[in-house]
Amino acid sequence: MLIFKKVADLRQWLAAQTSPIGFAPTMGALHAGHLELIQMAKQDGCVAVASIFVNPTQFNDPKDLLKYPRTAEKDIQLLHSVQCDALFMPPVEEVYPADLNVHISLEFNQLDKVMEGKFRPGHFQGMATVVNRLLDIVRPQYLYMGQKDYQQLSIVREMIEQLQLPVNLIMCPTVRESDGLAMSSRNTRLDSEMRAAAPLIYQTLLWAKTAFEADMPAADIQTAAMHRLQQAGLRPEYFDLMDGSTLIALAATDTRTSLTSVASARTWVSCVAAFAGEVRLIDNLILHP
Ligand code: PAJ
Repeated sequence: MLIFKKVADLRQWLAAQTSPIGFAPTMGALHAGHLELIQMAKQDGCVAVASIFVNPTQFNDPKDLLKYPRTAEKDIQLLHSVQCDALFMPPVEEVYPADLNVHISLEFNQLDKVMEGKFRPGHFQGMATVVNRLLDIVRPQYLYMGQKDYQQLSIVREMIEQLQLPVNLIMCPTVRESDGLAMSSRNTRLDSEMRAAAPLIYQTLLWAKTAFEADMPAADIQTAAMHRLQQAGLRPEYFDLMDGSTLIALAATDTRTSLTSVASARTWVSCVAAFAGEVRLIDNLILHP
């Protein structure tokens, strides 16, 4: 695996590639969920390019930026183990050069106002800016991102459409621990009690899917799900059922009277954020189809 720190060097190497480029942007502290993105790119016949860049513009709290785990050596080994072809690990000034304004400000309507958007002001504009900048640097044919961050992926999809970027976005299913907990670099911060409670997040999502299929009203599912999580000692911030494209909450519009009345092309998704001790975890599940 080649490691590049400079845009110019990476571009020179990319220009010599003959297979399509598959790109997976990350902030490091890699785990099997991140590696799955690279493995999918390889399976699709792509030259796999990963980036590790802890993007300062998407942290609304400067303390979180400082605390973000940096495990470069281990990350490099892991990427190597899945035959990643190239790693881009730029310093801040390569991504945000002083003489280039790369900041974008797009109107995402509902997409960046709900869920994570409510709790992390400015986060998604910063995320969109860096993904757009990285896409401009790497110019991949395929962009691999995780379903784990469903809202992030929805916003990137919208950005690609608005800016007419020539890239195909591929959603990789969430990689989970054997007990269902979605893999996240934050999981290592859970104490043993909270680690034992955390899988209930996924179990509650599975329960919500069953309830949804049995036509339980969305508002009732939400209330019961929040209650389940609280009972297990978790502190849920939200447990929302929503339209998977617009992220408009189902309970707010209540357009679904029964599954049979749901237009088949529509996707419904359930998204949750909950504190396990001091660690904030997010997860989601597609309810339909
Ligand atoms: P990061 O949190 O490092 O995640 C990088 C990619 O890995 C994202 O697409 C995320 O959805 C995916 N991912 C994380 N956990 C996963 C899991 N358990 N299963 C499958 N995929 C998983 O998300 C970011 O970085 C940043 O916001 C970024 C897009 C790199 C922009 O800075």
